[in-house]
Amino acid sequence: MIELKDLNKTYKTAAGEVNAVRNINLRIEDGSIFGIIGFSGAGKSTLVRCINLLERPTSGQVIIDGTDLCTLGRKELREARRKIGMIFQQFNLLSQRTVEANIRYPLEIAGVAKDKAAKRAAELLEMVDLADKAKAYPVQLSGGQKQRVAIARALASNPRIILCDEATSALDPITTRSILELLKKLNEQLGVTIVVITHEMKVVEQICDRVSVMSDGCIVEQGAVHDVFLRPKSDTAKRLIEPSQNALTIDNTPNSLRLAFTGEESGAPVISDMTVKCNVMVNILSANTENIGGKAFGQMLIQLPEDADARARIRDYLDSRGILYEESDDSQENTKTEGVVL
Ligand SMILES: Nc1ncnc2c1ncn2[C@@H]1O[C@H](COP(=O)(O)OP(=O)(O)OP(=O)(O)O)[C@@H](O)[C@H]1O
Ligand SMILES: [Mg+2]
Repeated sequence: MIELKDLNKTYKTAAGEVNAVRNINLRIEDGSIFGIIGFSGAGKSTLVRCINLLERPTSGQVIIDGTDLCTLGRKELREARRKIGMIFQQFNLLSQRTVEANIRYPLEIAGVAKDKAAKRAAELLEMVDLADKAKAYPVQLSGGQKQRVAIARALASNPRIILCDEATSALDPITTRSILELLKKLNEQLGVTIVVITHEMKVVEQICDRVSVMSDGCIVEQGAVHDVFLRPKSDTAKRLIEPSQNALTIDNTPNSLRLAFTGEESGAPVISDMTVKCNVMVNILSANTENIGGKAFGQMLIQLPEDADARARIRDYLDSRGILYEESDDSQENTKTEGVVL
């Protein structure tokens, strides 16, 4: 388990002190995929770099499996760091080395014998689906392929934790999806704990179990992804989830209902099935859903019918299918407020 206790990081600059990370208390369970989301400058990278002590906290503790890394000597810290891999937005590959040699690099540094390192690199290339690129150089690869190499390199020393700092931010949506699927596979197959830093809600939705929302160095909200996603409380979370100032929301649209799809269902069939089963016509006001592997992620705003019975049927239908939803205030008369399945 990763535990951050009263963590602070202050930078001293010519212009004065910058409190990049302030009073962070956080627990990340083994085997989970944990998201840290926030706008630019919120302190996400600083926080994640404190987890492997790339940045030394100004105060506080970074406890991994019961050991406070801040108390370790250089040699012990190097050992502890081998259990923490990291990947970055810009991949950070060595351009003069082939793919295979990039992956072998951390093993060479750790003194692993050549033949053993080569065998491990071959396994890792298989794992990230790049066996055919072993002899290629980074310049000959696409962004997604480069990130796969970086992931394989991060896995070389069998880490128990992988830190991802905006690992998909330089990639197009389809490549992003495939990299996230790879991370999820590694989490499931190897049990590796993954910490995902991002400013994109869709990344969190797609793979994270829990999420912390950061603003101005602090954690302003945290919880299970579907809770934060359905009922964001902090302004930051609301802005991240509903990015456009002018977007229709349940707060500014009377008689509306927001459906949140977090991968349990597929989107369009839900709406058509609901209209048939409930015998109602609903108007889709806005939709921001994406189908990933037949499952929907994202949200949809629909206009509710006037008829109270029809509304009740819709609520019953959504409850029965366990679909997350939230209604605009004006349409709550008949709402079983506790009936929302979370
Ligand atoms: N080495 C440094 N020296 C001084 N200030 C720094 C340093 N690194 C970061 N900061 C400041 O700390 C704050 C948090 O920066 P950080 O890079 O952690 O944000 P972030 O959430 O990762 O942003 P982004 O999404 O743009 O990557 C910013 O105000 C930044 O200017
Ligand atoms: Mg950053």
